[in-house]
Amino acid sequence: MNDWVHRFGGYDPADERRREALCTVGNGYFATRGAWAGAVAGEHHYPGTYLAGYYNRLADQVNDHVLENESLVNLPDWLPLTAAIDDGDWLTPENCEVVEHDQELDLLRGVLTRRFRLRDPHGREVQAVERRFASMAEPHLAGQTLAVTVLNWEGRLRLGTAVNGAVRNAGVERYRKLSGRHLTDVSATVADGNLMVAATTSQSRHRVAVATRTVAAHNGSPITEWTSWTDATSACAEVVVPVRSGDVVTAEKVAALYGSRDPGISEPLLASRTAVANARGFDQLRDAHVLAWSHLWRQFSLDLEEPFDGTLAAVRLNLFHLLQSVSPYSADTDAGVPARGLHGEAYRGHIFWDELFVFPVLTLRMPALTRALLLYRYRRLPAARLAARLAGCPGAMYPWQSGSDGREESQRLHLNPLSGRWSEDATFRQRHVGLAIAYTMWQYVELTGDLAFLGDYGAEVIVEVARFFAGLAEYDQGRDRYVIRGVVGPDEFHTGYPDQPAAGIDNNAYTNVMAVWLFGVAAKALALLPDWQRTQLVESLGLRAEELSHWDQLTRRMYVPFHDGVISQFEGYEQLSELDWEHYRAEYGDIRRLDRILEAEGQDVTAYQVSKQADVLMLLYLLPRRELRELMERLGYPLTAETIRATVEYYLARTCHGSSLSAVVHAWGLAMLDPDRALGFLEQALHSDAGDPSQTGTTAEGIHLAAMAGGADLIQRCFTGLSTSNDVLRFGPHWPGKLGTLRMVLRYRGHRLVAEVSTSGLTLTVDPGPGAPITVRCFGRTRQLKAGESHTWPSS
Ligand code: BGC
Repeated sequence: MNDWVHRFGGYDPADERRREALCTVGNGYFATRGAWAGAVAGEHHYPGTYLAGYYNRLADQVNDHVLENESLVNLPDWLPLTAAIDDGDWLTPENCEVVEHDQELDLLRGVLTRRFRLRDPHGREVQAVERRFASMAEPHLAGQTLAVTVLNWEGRLRLGTAVNGAVRNAGVERYRKLSGRHLTDVSATVADGNLMVAATTSQSRHRVAVATRTVAAHNGSPITEWTSWTDATSACAEVVVPVRSGDVVTAEKVAALYGSRDPGISEPLLASRTAVANARGFDQLRDAHVLAWSHLWRQFSLDLEEPFDGTLAAVRLNLFHLLQSVSPYSADTDAGVPARGLHGEAYRGHIFWDELFVFPVLTLRMPALTRALLLYRYRRLPAARLAARLAGCPGAMYPWQSGSDGREESQRLHLNPLSGRWSEDATFRQRHVGLAIAYTMWQYVELTGDLAFLGDYGAEVIVEVARFFAGLAEYDQGRDRYVIRGVVGPDEFHTGYPDQPAAGIDNNAYTNVMAVWLFGVAAKALALLPDWQRTQLVESLGLRAEELSHWDQLTRRMYVPFHDGVISQFEGYEQLSELDWEHYRAEYGDIRRLDRILEAEGQDVTAYQVSKQADVLMLLYLLPRRELRELMERLGYPLTAETIRATVEYYLARTCHGSSLSAVVHAWGLAMLDPDRALGFLEQALHSDAGDPSQTGTTAEGIHLAAMAGGADLIQRCFTGLSTSNDVLRFGPHWPGKLGTLRMVLRYRGHRLVAEVSTSGLTLTVDPGPGAPITVRCFGRTRQLKAGESHTWPSS
């Protein structure tokens, strides 16, 4: 396989929805699934177009509960561009025989091509090529072409184009029992031959508009005799062309998408109408788009020479999806990092803690993008403060699932598709999301040295989250330690103990230790501010000296549970029953969702030592060993290398990897202990969406952005040992020979660097240009590097 092209051969209706997700075209402002142009939502196809940050709430009655859900809204479909023979139906893979079919996603250029040959029931064949892109140069525009060759018949070829406003959210089977119609006031119009559909989201009242312009040609000569019409929801047009065998009919379509949250417009319909009328032709738009992608790829360059099969292709596909989901255009969208990409209806387009896995890739290449995305959280600090207050706590309590306004969007009931039963969902108790947000703010500052961000935004969030956790920690006299009760850790199977499965668990080691980490960081963050700014922040937050000394006390007296020489995931984990893993593997094969399997059997996963994903091991992912040891030492829990090794083994044997994040964290935890197993997890993370379809679970409902970015991050940071602290850029490669030679571009402190890593060591080159020298340390040797300089650290 060419590493820059992701190809799907043949037509496989059963895999079509997954391919649609993987063949999405997007630019961070909007994304459109790779559906057949003109397909209507059904069993095998699900066209979907989404604008970043466009959410809407709908309510449903389930049992005795009213469920309110906020979802990222599926918008009018701009894709329909189809052909028909004589008076027949539009040709589709469903009503024709598919003689040839392949899809090709060109990652370098950001263009999706579908080639196909269809034979209708009368044996008449057409050969066609359809291309599309979502412009990376002009974020409101998309381009599409269709070229149809008539093969063995003569008659009339009808070419159709449309904007389809009869859409709803129906991409996830499990949610289909709940409402999905988000658009009201849908209106379709035709003006100057261009098609337009405008609509309003029913509750959030965002206005959205999609306009398209289509031009066609017959054997190269323009055809202008279009007939157009509208119905209640859609605008359509067609041309009829007398053709004979060998004739080629082509169409070129440009779409413009706008919404009322956009800056710099009067109103969306006018904006899309103006944009589409004035847009350049397909070729020019595509050239600008390809140039914009080439600029992105230069900044995100991460090459591996001679890696094992498929690694480089997977890294590129994953970075491609990352940049389609968040891009420089994200700065104006006030949208966060959607867990399932900008095209996935899974988890209703909500924002979780997944940015924790995504930001390191962005910050080391395009720090301004991370900064913009962090502001999504800063703007929702008031909502987090309100949530804390309502929970009787100080500070800020960020929601586990976040959408438009930062309130908690987690569902309270969930449906187990295996049993058909609804049960209580207490995963919202994952208070650790606040720790992740504070961590990402601190990490951004460490990587970039952006103290202005810290002073203007970061320190406030860090302090408020620290306050919340200090409030959550209760003093336990018996232990003379502080404890945190009633939470859920990253392993969201354990939402409580078996007798109270929704009440949360006590002393989740990850939460307690990261809270301790945060208390230290909050104090450091305050110390880093200039006096005037610290004084203002302390005054406006009413932060008292006693709070700071209480944080300090917590860094010495927080409780962390242990059993049998390992860190306990939470208090009492070891008392839960052991699962008969062999039995479940033999019985069910895929046991990633043991929670659902056990519930369908009338059992409860909370009764077992079964973890959905890495939980304790997240500590190894987020904290360098030295820092973790120091934290634990200060708490009075000295941590030996043997405890770490035993802890990794213990949970590895009890984790079913029900989340794709798990592979990233396990690879990280094992990188130094067992490089071969780490590589196995790296492969899993990299291929979690595009790998074997039987192993990729719910990709059809949206790619898994954190695993995609996290896989690339394993290569860039984990195996190279890249970290920064105290203004020193550090490397410490444990580079697996199987990965070949790495060459990657990084941005650090205003410089562009090229790092080359292999088993023989590291070479770092700083681009010529302005900027202060940087301090780099590798294999215990420190160097100052000026712009234009290069240095090699040999591994022996
Ligand atoms: C995982 C979470 C993750 C979410 C969104 C869940 O399955 O357990 O850790 O944040 O998916 O990706």
